[in-house]
Amino acid sequence: MTDEPLVLGLETSCDETGVGIVRGHTLLADAVASSVEQHARFGGVVPEVASRAHLEAMVPTIERACATAGITLADVDAFAVTAGPGLAGALLVGVAAAKSLALATGKPIYGVNHLAAHVAVDQLEHGALPEPSIAMLVSGGHSSLLKVTDLTVGVTPMGATIDDAAGEAFDKVARLLGLGFPGGPIIDRTAVSGSSIAIDFPRGLSTKRDLERHRFDFSFSGLKTAVARWVEAKERAGEAVPVADVAASFQEAVCDILVRKALDACQSQGVEDLVIGGGVAANSRLRVLAEERAAKIGVRVRVPRPGLCTDNGAMVAALGSEMVARGRTPSVLDFPADSSQPIESVLV
Ligand code: KG4
Ligand code: ZN
Repeated sequence: MTDEPLVLGLETSCDETGVGIVRGHTLLADAVASSVEQHARFGGVVPEVASRAHLEAMVPTIERACATAGITLADVDAFAVTAGPGLAGALLVGVAAAKSLALATGKPIYGVNHLAAHVAVDQLEHGALPEPSIAMLVSGGHSSLLKVTDLTVGVTPMGATIDDAAGEAFDKVARLLGLGFPGGPIIDRTAVSGSSIAIDFPRGLSTKRDLERHRFDFSFSGLKTAVARWVEAKERAGEAVPVADVAASFQEAVCDILVRKALDACQSQGVEDLVIGGGVAANSRLRVLAEERAAKIGVRVRVPRPGLCTDNGAMVAALGSEMVARGRTPSVLDFPADSSQPIESVLV
């Protein structure tokens, strides 16, 4: 156990400055500094504000993580950092910081894919990921179904959203209901007192015709518009908007289609393990629905605890640790931050 390498991971793709430290599959520290409050009044993340906040938070967050893990930077065997995808300026701060640490300590560095890191983090909770697995990644910027044959090299996209990401839909619907930002956790809480069957909102790309072309793709923009029209009609009629019912019914529509397509992906590939990652995987209804339906068809579901679903440094350290364990060649120090890094590129 103690001879497993110590890996420090940095995450700065969006508004969280994350520093995680792992040894093998053991999580030693997960320090996160969020700038979410600075973005709240704009209703979304402002890239330049996020970049500046990363700069300010970077050193204190690294110090906090090292103190929690009881290590110094000299103890670290390898560094990992999110190279992309994400906000260009935000990514640059993490990449520059990680390169500086690697250069100063003479240790290897792994520039990794943010989305693959959302999958890798589950290993810190549930041990080695069975291969192949189906991964569903649902965050503020992405919604995709992936077949994972080897987490460090082979991630094959099966489908993705053709418009809004699932988390984006949560954020937009929360805004139109006047609930605040980020919308996912607020809708999750608001939905508890509402009825999920009060309003029959549409399930995107679910008709027979859609499934012919988009069997594993998602679409949430029509759902968002349907919620907006429904709320407007209530307001025009001078009636009170039943916010909790709208939240619960909207959430049900998102979770229903996500789970349906994820399990269909498992069955189509004869794969019995589904891992769900990304911020939306923190959703309480999604977790219950996935468990319930998967159990009926013999699929095992793995979802990290909510704190590890949203962006953090532990996920990057977890993927870095996997790279080390599998003997992957470290990144060359001049690798760029790539805001649109494709999921097939797990290590740069
Ligand atoms: O993975 P993440 O932290 O950042 C990105 O890479 O995008 O995901 C953030 C997204 C936001 O859209 C947020 O509203 C959503 O995840 N989210 C949730 C919940 N917690 C966070 N969505 C639904 N239910 C939640 N409990
Ligand atoms: Zn993310």
